[in-house]
Parts: sequence; structure tokens; C-alpha cells
Amino acid sequence: MRKIAILTSGGDAPGMNAAIRAVTRKAIHEGFQVFGIERGYLGIIQEAIFPLQARDVGGIITQGGTMLKTARYPEFQDESLQENAYQILKRHGIDHLIVIGGDGSMRGAQGLSRHGMSTMTIPCTIDNDMGGTQYTIGFDTALNTVVDAVGHIRDTSNSHERVAIVEVMGRKAGHIALQSGIACGAEIVLVPENPMPLHEVCRHLKETQLRGKEYSVILVAEGAYKSGEVKEFIKNHTEFDPSLTVLGYLQRGGGPSAFDAILAARMSEVCINTLMSGVDNRLIGYIDGHIRTISYKEAEKLQFPINEEQYTLLSILSS
Ligand code: ADP
Ligand code: F6P
Repeated sequence: MRKIAILTSGGDAPGMNAAIRAVTRKAIHEGFQVFGIERGYLGIIQEAIFPLQARDVGGIITQGGTMLKTARYPEFQDESLQENAYQILKRHGIDHLIVIGGDGSMRGAQGLSRHGMSTMTIPCTIDNDMGGTQYTIGFDTALNTVVDAVGHIRDTSNSHERVAIVEVMGRKAGHIALQSGIACGAEIVLVPENPMPLHEVCRHLKETQLRGKEYSVILVAEGAYKSGEVKEFIKNHTEFDPSLTVLGYLQRGGGPSAFDAILAARMSEVCINTLMSGVDNRLIGYIDGHIRTISYKEAEKLQFPINEEQYTLLSILSS
């Protein structure tokens, strides 16, 4: 009986549990023995490896976070630690390692594959910043969380006729800010890929006020400006006194949206089917509605940056 181990790595994201459940049950269904590893790559070194049965993953599909825990373990970039991890996995009889995480986690899997480990990566991060896939599990849920939060902030902004600044996550990418900005009707979205200069933001705010807007919502991606920088600039250069809300970990928590839970199920199925066909060391990607398998090298090259046309659309719609 071939043995599969699963780990979650990097920032937790809604849908990690749904993916753990789906991989476990699909793999057991196909005759594999399944193991969980706690705390990402650190857990391999700690040998926190234990068997997972179908019933162990019951009731987690709607839960946020990850039942396997996760960790940032930057030391894992060290080749000798990767070799050590490979030897530990071999000693435990693990044939395939399934990594659920973001691009850093995929690089960890790629590192292990260079030492001889058979791996697969299921993309799971709220940032949606991975090559090789147009959607990562967790992104859709985070968008819904931001849209919901901005709806509440908008009520107060409207009542007080005040500019609201909402800072969102996304690391160096503006996907969360741009897509949630379109969905919630933000007036201005500041993304790292195309950062609008702050004097331009002030000019825009004055114009919207002249056009009769009583309040405005500005979404700031964390990679675009330092926290609090936009608020300070606007305060110092205009008569506006914006409110500031940093959504922070609110965006990472909560159960997955239906889209993310379904994506987790579909990607997990393809992941196990691919291993059974004798192919490994692949990212499972979502491209134009299809679930594909992509080599790690190809995934790095196949980038899906923010869509400039959508950025233009947002500004047209916020007039
Ligand atoms: P994410 O997977 O969400 O992008 P990180 O960038 O923090 O999150 O990466 C998660 C973990 O993956 C890191 O803490 C580390 O253990 C591992 N990792 C990241 N980059 C590499 C790399 N270049 N080589 C090996 N392991 C890596
Ligand atoms: O990758 C997910 C993410 O939430 C990013 O959006 C953010 O930059 C980072 O993780 C924050 O990480 P930490 O867990 O170290 O606060």
C-alpha cells in the first residue's frame, strides 16, 4: 500500500481543511494509506507524522484554519535540512508528499523533489499570487470577507460623510484589493503593481467631492504603501480626515466559501489521479475554468498578474 503524507504550510487560508479532507478521503478511496504532518516543513524535522483515517477529517470542511497547524519555517531553504527532511520521510515509508500552501510552500516542495521526493502542491493562500493558477484556494473567501467588512464601514462613512481607508492583505500583489474593490464599489484602489501617487489620490478625492460624493472608500493593498501612510498624507494635504481600518487576520479566518470548498475538492481529486497516473512534482492549477497540472518550473513562468483593464474598469465604475 503506497503512503501519502499531507502538510499545510505558510499563512493559513480558508479551505485548507477542505483540501486536507478531500485529499485524505480521495486517497483512501484509491487505496493509499494517509498520514498528516503537523506544522508544515518544521513538522517533518520534528517527525510530527501520524496516520489519518477518513473519520479523522470529519466535520472540518466548513472550518477555517488548518487542523494540521501551519508554520513559517524559513530555515527550510537550507539544502541540508531538505535532505534531512527527505531522509525522515523515507524512513517513515512516505512515497508522496502533498503540500497545501502558497508559492513559498511550493518552493519547499520543489526543493524536496530535487532530493528525490515525490511531491504535489495544492495552491492555497488568500493572496492569489501564485504562478500556474488563476485562483488559489482561500482567495474567494477572503474577497467575500473584505466585501462584507467594507459594507459595514461604508455605513459609518456614509453617515459621517467621511473618507474611509481600508487596508487589506495580499503581500506584494494587489489581487485582494482590486477584486474586492470592484465587488464593493470602492472609489480608489491602491495596488503595488500600479501605485497611484498620493497627491493624485488627494486630487481625485477633491474632484469626487465636487461631483457631489459625500464619502469615499479607498482600499489600500499592504504592498502598495506602509500602514497608515495614505491616511497621514491625505490628512496633511487636504481638509479630509479619513478613518483607517486595517482588516488584518480577519481576512485569513473563517470557513471557506462554496467556491473555495469546491475548488479544494476538485484540485484534490486531480492531485490523487495524477499521482496514480505516475506523474508527480506538479502544481495543481485552475486555468480558464479547468483544473490542470503544471510542472513547478512552468508554474513559476506562467504568471497571472492583476488585470490592468479591470483596474481601469474600477475607476470608470466609481465615477
Ligand atoms: P506561502 O507558502 O503562503 O507563500 P511562505 O512564503 O511563508 O508562505 O512559505 C511557507 C514556507 O515554505 C516557509 O516558511 C518555508 O518553510 C518554505 N519555503 C519558502 N520558500 C522556500 C524556498 N525557497 N525553499 C524551500 N522552502 C521554502
Ligand atoms: O500570505 C498570506 C498573508 O496573510 C499575506 O497576505 C500577509 O502579507 C502575510 O501572510 C502575513 O503573514 P503573518 O502570518 O506573518 O502575519
